[in-house]
Amino acid sequence: MQIHTTIESVRAARRQAGKVAFVPTMGNLHAGHITLMRDAGKQADAVIASIFVNRLQFGPGEDFQKYPRTLQADCEKLEAAGVAHLFAPDDQLMYPELQTYHVDPAPAQIAILEGEFRPGHFRGVATVVLKLLNIVQPDIALFGKKDYQQLMVLSNMVRQLALPVDVQPGETVRADSGLALSSRNGYLSPDELAEAPRLYRELTNICEAVRAGDHDFLKLETDAMATLEAHGWSPDYIAIRRRIDLQPPVHADDPLVVLAAARLGRTRLIDNIEI
Ligand code: PAJ
Repeated sequence: MQIHTTIESVRAARRQAGKVAFVPTMGNLHAGHITLMRDAGKQADAVIASIFVNRLQFGPGEDFQKYPRTLQADCEKLEAAGVAHLFAPDDQLMYPELQTYHVDPAPAQIAILEGEFRPGHFRGVATVVLKLLNIVQPDIALFGKKDYQQLMVLSNMVRQLALPVDVQPGETVRADSGLALSSRNGYLSPDELAEAPRLYRELTNICEAVRAGDHDFLKLETDAMATLEAHGWSPDYIAIRRRIDLQPPVHADDPLVVLAAARLGRTRLIDNIEI
């Protein structure tokens, strides 16, 4: 695997590579990321991954400083997954001057769910992803459904700005316990790690109830929040939404997704499942 730390170098590699699939990450790679890399490899001549911990998408009290940086181990995993190129810029390369141009997703998309609790987050995500896409110029870009709202925001950005890239979703990869894999799981204590799968279980319960015909969404949401609270969590939201735009469902046949964010100790976990 070639590691690129300049724009010229990754662009030169891209020009040689034929059909390119791109998987942007912030590193500390786990099987969720690696599954995206392998999916990418099936659809293109070469996979380009990126690792960049993007400070623009972290809020003031968030974990930018302590976000795990594990480049050596990440490179070994990428090699093993057959990734041809890694773009691993430093902060100076991505933001050599104060970034005064940004991508502002529509308020309707970012005032809700993650956007409500992480002001500025999706602006930072959309801005860095546009910049990464401009640098790498891939044919395909893959993003996980684990970050469902992020996938929606980025798909809309690509469509509305007519970016010449095909966005592909990847399914959420979970531990045997059901816990969605996440770099932030590494912050959990052993006790918290044992408790953490409850988030997925609550989402599964809601999913099963809705599928069985329960349409009292508010009660399902508040009951699940109460269960989490009773087990020491601080939930930000549990919300049954329509998949298309993550707004509250209107029609009985709207395809749905249930999304959640909750803090366990000092760690904030998110998850979702399509109903
Ligand atoms: P990061 O959290 O490193 O995730 C990189 C990609 O892996 C994202 O598309 C994310 O949805 C996906 N992913 C994470 N956990 C997953 C899991 N358990 N199963 C499947 N896919 C999973 O998301 C980001 O980085 C950043 O916001 C980024 C898009 C790179 C912009 O900085």
